[in-house]
Amino acid sequence: MLNKIKEDLIAEIDRRLNDKIIEATNAKLLKKLIEGSDNAEEAIAIAELGTTYKRTGFHFDKRLEKKGNTIKYFKKNEYLSFSDGKGGVIHKLIIGDNYDALLNLLIEYRGRIDVIYIDPPYGKDKMGQFAQTNYDNELTRDNLLSMLYPRLILAKQLLSNEGVIFCSIDDRNQAYVKCLFDEVFDESKFLFNLPRITKKGGKSTQTIAKNNDYILAYTKSDDIKFALEEKSDESLDKYEFEDEFVSTRGKYKLTQTLDYNSLQYNTSMDYEIEIDGKKFYPGGSKEIMEQRHAGQHGVTDWVWRWSKSAVEWGLKEKMFVIKNDRIYTKSYLKCRKKNGKNEIEYIDATRKAYTTLSYLDDNKYSNDNAKKELDKIFDNGNLIFKNPKGSVLVSELVKMVCDKEDGIILDFFAGSGTTGHSVLELNKDGGTRQFILCTLNEITDVNPNGVAYDVTTKRLKRIMTGSCYDNSKNFDFARKNMEPYGGTLDVYEIGEVANFENTKGKTAFDVIDETLYGKEKFKTLKEKIEWVCENFDRTQKILEKPVNSTEVV
Ligand SMILES: C[S@@+](CC[C@H](N)C(=O)[O-])C[C@H]1O[C@@H](n2cnc3c(N)ncnc32)[C@H](O)[C@@H]1O
Repeated sequence: MLNKIKEDLIAEIDRRLNDKIIEATNAKLLKKLIEGSDNAEEAIAIAELGTTYKRTGFHFDKRLEKKGNTIKYFKKNEYLSFSDGKGGVIHKLIIGDNYDALLNLLIEYRGRIDVIYIDPPYGKDKMGQFAQTNYDNELTRDNLLSMLYPRLILAKQLLSNEGVIFCSIDDRNQAYVKCLFDEVFDESKFLFNLPRITKKGGKSTQTIAKNNDYILAYTKSDDIKFALEEKSDESLDKYEFEDEFVSTRGKYKLTQTLDYNSLQYNTSMDYEIEIDGKKFYPGGSKEIMEQRHAGQHGVTDWVWRWSKSAVEWGLKEKMFVIKNDRIYTKSYLKCRKKNGKNEIEYIDATRKAYTTLSYLDDNKYSNDNAKKELDKIFDNGNLIFKNPKGSVLVSELVKMVCDKEDGIILDFFAGSGTTGHSVLELNKDGGTRQFILCTLNEITDVNPNGVAYDVTTKRLKRIMTGSCYDNSKNFDFARKNMEPYGGTLDVYEIGEVANFENTKGKTAFDVIDETLYGKEKFKTLKEKIEWVCENFDRTQKILEKPVNSTEVV
């Protein structure tokens, strides 16, 4: 038995050596020490020394994720789970450490998650110093990075090949967290680092106002297609006119004149246009046009935007309107002139490309707006959860990269459950997207039962069913008769059984309900053990010993 454990540990050291996680000289020494160790505990402790550092171009103290002798599994909390009984999407909330949750999710969701959004807790610390976070815990940068590192590795395995992972992060930590993402996802898979408005105010004469944080985005794909952003109603309202082509071209607006005074000067673009017997010149004057033709022009000067042949084509296609003695081009909602060609190109002008400024301009993405959202669900929303993100932020991120109406969206630092809210909002289009959330039940001054019990579950129950767990409806969302989203939420806690357990005639493997993992019930214990050992990374194959043994190793 001891020899087998040593053999496995040495194989693990070799793997780490191969992955360049440890240096060759250290690996040699560790193997020697493992071979010479007297018992399994000592051998495992020595092997763990080999997991202490991960070189990422910068150094941080990596916390050890210890292999325990317990099996962690999803245990359904029937009391907190609920359903509207309509057979819609079954969403999941897992309460507990996301390391265990991610490991377990791999069993059913490896390579299947379309979008991951995370908003990990970070302190406002200077490098290496303890800082108070919003969540009453202390987090050094070392702790943040070493906590994230193994979780990102698991997250990458969960992400589909076309999937995208987003990570909200503040200005102090983003550079470090980006290095970590570069390491895990590879720098070539970096998409963007999006600045996001946190608040509008806070200006002072003494210091620069910090009004944004960042959203890092990475993918596994080489070719990611971004969706287009919907234009605001305000900008769509400007398309107020229609002509005889309205059914095919849509409504139009008049914003651009055909002539312009600061384009590269070119005589061929500076000519007379005649419409219904009336003559037009760039800038309005025939005399000044003639002076330009005689050489009195700037490098940039008045010209038409369209060539002679394009204008002839535009006149036939009725692309111009005369207003205040000037020629205006029509900007249609559904078409435009194809660049460089005299032909119509059909487009969707109700949408525009996202830019990295999209999330900086609009206050709807700010924390201020997110607070208002939580206030509709909890009368003291502002107090019970500080700085939630707004659901519109996450839903826009999902829309940007995933057009699947049945996409799976994961948030393993779910906090108040904003990502769940976003997915429910997106499903208003008839979609069947599924959310999977994971969050610690972190006890804080204002959440004596823990954030997951006091905020996350309650928020989802209220917005999905329109009432609280005790069926009361005393919150603004219900008072204002807002339509509940419906659906089913399965709530799980991280259950734990010792893998040598054998109480009340049950083995550890009997305790775990493998149907949770989408598996048929196993016929034999041997089959079951094989499956659990293969799928639960933290499980050591200690059950090779007789199941009634109380000896740990
Ligand atoms: C910054 S908050 C996320 C806020 C969230 N985006 C929202 O809008 O409500 C981070 C959350 O992650 C949780 N958390 C921290 N460490 C965790 C871990 N190891 N596993 C699961 N959740 C964790 C914290 O309890 C906290 O609620």
